[in-house]
Amino acid sequence: MTGREFTLNVPTNLVFTAKDIAKAIQRGDVIIVIDVLRCCSTIVTALTNAAEKVIPTKTVKEARALHKKHPEFILAGERRGIKLKGFDLGNSPLEFFPQKVKGRHIILTTTSGTKAIISSKKAKYVFSGAFLNAEATAKAALKIAEREETGISLISAGTDGRFSLEDFLCAGAIAEGLSADNIEHSDAVLAALLAFQQAQESLDRVIQSGHHARYLISQGFEEDVKFCSQLNVFKIVPFLKGKTVVPLNVSATET
Ligand code: MLT
Repeated sequence: MTGREFTLNVPTNLVFTAKDIAKAIQRGDVIIVIDVLRCCSTIVTALTNAAEKVIPTKTVKEARALHKKHPEFILAGERRGIKLKGFDLGNSPLEFFPQKVKGRHIILTTTSGTKAIISSKKAKYVFSGAFLNAEATAKAALKIAEREETGISLISAGTDGRFSLEDFLCAGAIAEGLSADNIEHSDAVLAALLAFQQAQESLDRVIQSGHHARYLISQGFEEDVKFCSQLNVFKIVPFLKGKTVVPLNVSATET
């Protein structure tokens, strides 16, 4: 007899709290951090536009200290959505265009997204998911979860600890890409999937009704919200390798 005769089930979970991130890491799950507005959308855009890597930091202080050591890196990030004093870029994906980021290292600090990525760092596989790369992220996570015989946890980064509509819907979009007979969605993932299917027809309008989208629009970032609402336009899956986020090479063994 060669190979496995059956594929093991792949359980999925939707996680909102730091305590549950720790449990997902303990289970050995493949982690997908979701922050549609805007951290994960910014990271996938930067890598798609050929940035070499993104270095997430939890605090502004850490970001500034790292930049002092490496002034050749781009210093980017926000607090309350607004670019920080002395930073090269904010957290608008539209700022990370090829002429600006190609071949560059980017230090990024954001209110919730970079913190959620760093909180997941003990997991073997940590991806950044957004609407922009939902399907690619789902496919990569499924392939690895099957290979590693483990589950998949979708982490909703939210905004400042609050539940976020767009991240919940994006969990549903990713769940839709996790279409295999052996997938075992939790009720929370199923609820996200149903909500996404309901919202899909008018996704940008639904996203715009959420709290953080309304805040961003009030600060002049309407184009960012529209950009981040596009579904499956990028194939890159950002992957946390050590302290940096790089594009995943699914065929290689990334550990
Ligand atoms: C975050 O990480 O909380 C967000 O990316 C905030 C933002 O919209 O800039």
